[in-house]
Amino acid sequence: MKKRRKFIFVCQGSDCKSNKAKRFAEDIGAILHSGPHRGKFKLVKTKCMDCCKSGPVAVVADQLIKKGDLKHLEQALATE
Ligand code: FES
Repeated sequence: MKKRRKFIFVCQGSDCKSNKAKRFAEDIGAILHSGPHRGKFKLVKTKCMDCCKSGPVAVVADQLIKKGDLKHLEQALATE
């Protein structure tokens, strides 16, 4: 049986966009398309997730990644 990819949600709302959410999404995409994570995750761009003051934000499983923290994101990916 084929294993399903897990979803990662990254906010592209206006407040996050003004805090470089586009660049954050590109960086996440680069991480997901290389190394051990390749093919395991699907990046989904969303509208506001109501955490604007922590932007740019992403959600991996049940973890909220705040302030574009790629280290935290990689730790969350490693536990998935
Ligand atoms: S704009 Fe990203 S959480 Fe609101």
